[in-house]
Amino acid sequence: MSPALIPNYELAGKQVVIIDVLRATSSICVAFETGVDKILPVSTPEECMLFKDFDFLCAAERNAIKLTGFDMGNSPFEFKHPLLKGKSIAFTTTNGTKAIKMSRSAGAEQIIIGSLLNVDAVVSYLISQHNDIVLVCSGWKDKVNLEDTLCAGAIASALNDHVETNCDATLMAMHLFKGMETNLEFYIRQSSHALRFKALHQAEDDVAFCSKLNTVNVLPVMQGEYIRNIQLNKPA
Ligand code: MLT
Repeated sequence: MSPALIPNYELAGKQVVIIDVLRATSSICVAFETGVDKILPVSTPEECMLFKDFDFLCAAERNAIKLTGFDMGNSPFEFKHPLLKGKSIAFTTTNGTKAIKMSRSAGAEQIIIGSLLNVDAVVSYLISQHNDIVLVCSGWKDKVNLEDTLCAGAIASALNDHVETNCDATLMAMHLFKGMETNLEFYIRQSSHALRFKALHQAEDDVAFCSKLNTVNVLPVMQGEYIRNIQLNKPA
């Protein structure tokens, strides 16, 4: 439920799904739907900017705000531009790219990017792999958040007939999702991050966009240092 809990779980040898509904993993899914070639998650804005010299577009967000001087921030709408097709993007965000980096350091065998937008693609893939799974919610600065827990609940509920769980956090996420699944946007609008957006007077549509289930048929997975879409030639 938070990156702060990662040290309490065994990630080594497991398939790890990183979830940051608002907005990093939703934006990554949209980028691949647009046709981006690869995304390089990096830790800091300074590191991100270095990749400009290597033919990367550079996207950086901190505290829900796009950083000055970068090509993009972290709104899914910024990643819809047709000119992004075939491009490489270096990407750093407050929580999402941090959770990716931490999970890699913790020895995850494979890192998969999950959001409400691509639950079906993630679940079908996990079922086909027959491996142990850890769902990592990016949260907000190590605090638990509603939208990532809901997404974990959506994924766990869809996996429920295929895998066993002995994790109470997973049970809690599944029950939460069951109670809210008929109106995800309504509940997510009450979340602290949605309120943060509202206070910043920006990106209000992002909340509605990122709250929708299965609108994007992509499967972003880390291969080496890069995230790439391995869901090729499959109809939505
Ligand atoms: C993050 O990675 O912290 C988030 O995606 C923040 C944001 O909404 O841009």
